[in-house]
Amino acid sequence: MVLVVDYGSQYSRLITRRIRENEVYSEVVFPDDEVSLSEVDAVVLSGGPRSVYEEDAPNLPKWFKDYKGPVLAICYGMQLVVKEFGGEVKRGKGEYGRTLVEISDDPIFEGIPERVHVWMSHGDEVVRLPEGFHPIAFSETGVIAGATDGKRFWLLQFHPEVHHTEFGEKMISNFLFRVCKLEKNWKIGDLVEEKIRKIRETVGRKKAILALSGGVDSSVAAVLTHRAIGKNLVCVFVDHGLLRKGEREEVERVFKKHFDMNLVVIDARKRFLERLKGVTDPERKRKIIGEEFIRVFEEEARKHDVEFLVQGTIYSDVIESAASGKTTAKIKSHHNVGGLPEKMNLKLVEPLRDLFKDEVRKVGRYLGIPDHIINRHPFPGPGLAVRVLGEITEEKLEMLREADYVFIETLRKYNYYDKVWQAFAVLLPIRSVGVKGDARAYEYVIALRAVNSVEGMTADWSRIPYDVLDEVARRITREVEGVGRVVYDVTSKPPATIEWE
Ligand code: XMP
Repeated sequence: MVLVVDYGSQYSRLITRRIRENEVYSEVVFPDDEVSLSEVDAVVLSGGPRSVYEEDAPNLPKWFKDYKGPVLAICYGMQLVVKEFGGEVKRGKGEYGRTLVEISDDPIFEGIPERVHVWMSHGDEVVRLPEGFHPIAFSETGVIAGATDGKRFWLLQFHPEVHHTEFGEKMISNFLFRVCKLEKNWKIGDLVEEKIRKIRETVGRKKAILALSGGVDSSVAAVLTHRAIGKNLVCVFVDHGLLRKGEREEVERVFKKHFDMNLVVIDARKRFLERLKGVTDPERKRKIIGEEFIRVFEEEARKHDVEFLVQGTIYSDVIESAASGKTTAKIKSHHNVGGLPEKMNLKLVEPLRDLFKDEVRKVGRYLGIPDHIINRHPFPGPGLAVRVLGEITEEKLEMLREADYVFIETLRKYNYYDKVWQAFAVLLPIRSVGVKGDARAYEYVIALRAVNSVEGMTADWSRIPYDVLDEVARRITREVEGVGRVVYDVTSKPPATIEWE
């Protein structure tokens, strides 16, 4: 096992993930955590936001003096090792972003060109190495970018774990296989079995509840937990009437029939539509749906004797909520079941908390979840409510459902569904003049939105071929009654958001 000590860098989990991609098991710990060294084959010290000379800066872990194996120390980690072993670190000019470095012959750089662009993010710099160390990389400005003692320690000032570092993955695999001589012996299946074991240990014979949306994260969390505790997991699917065409039926088919889960489907369509009547403000819509959802879910939870709440929180959710502190402006109040555990006095189980989206997908595939669920585009909690702009009526929802279905079906037909990150239709609250069969028409407008993105934080509109868009527009105006015009959204995020409300 490779232990990653997290000094607070935003990339710490990325290091673990890169190691796991090499089929070597890795875990993250904080510097103060207790560790059983018998299982540790190598240690990585991560970067971090602090300066090693700050008074309360985090230090090497207590157990480090007893550890005798190889160490890869990155950024802050490198500076910490240098300081602790008698070298010198000083405030420097700082290097941020893409930086050219020149590397020398060393096992960690095997198969890598002499000059590579790497990703730097540091203010302090190493000015003198401890005795027995020699530099193995310099940046353009002459700053020591890498060093080693040739025995146990490999120090890198830059971040090999981020994509922007050329050959970064190769450096990590060199460390694992050339320096540490580890074997590939870990697969996603081991992670799944471990997670199942942990859920069993935590929940025991008690009951747990989960809000199943049919999206990737909640689906994977559900199937994983079901494998651990079987029918003691109650999955609740709330049909709030703001779902896409065929969504509820599909969830029933997959989770009830295929996986034989204890699934409760609640038809709450009336309640939601009633409360949304006359509401046009997007934030109010979101708030109402969030509140109503919690109410419906609570009512159901009370019927079962549950002690645990399972949530499909994944790692990017954790970062996002940490990042959305007081100083960040509220763009949209995202709906999820975040408020549930405190209100309901339930103990929280989040089996996917340390995984990235693509790892969640791998786990899902391993568990036998069908591809169309694993590769599904994200869908917002408030559903079609934020895609019927302005006031929501059943008639408008129906128009949108049909139009969205045509769009998605056509993207699938031409193999574009898996190429875009998210695609959907939006019903605009205006009508526009047209001509149908020689007569004047005055009908609604559908906007199509398709974006490419990584985790949804920023996005660019997808360059879908005109012919595909053409087929979608023809079909929608022909097949969806009440729609007379189709437009394509060519705005990136920012300045727009992905959803229209
Ligand atoms: P925006 O519109 O903020 O959306 O650019 C970014 C991503 O988040 C999805 N989204 C939501 N997801 N609850 C969710 O779980 C929500 O309330 C919500 N609002 C937007 C959106 O579909 C996109 O993928």
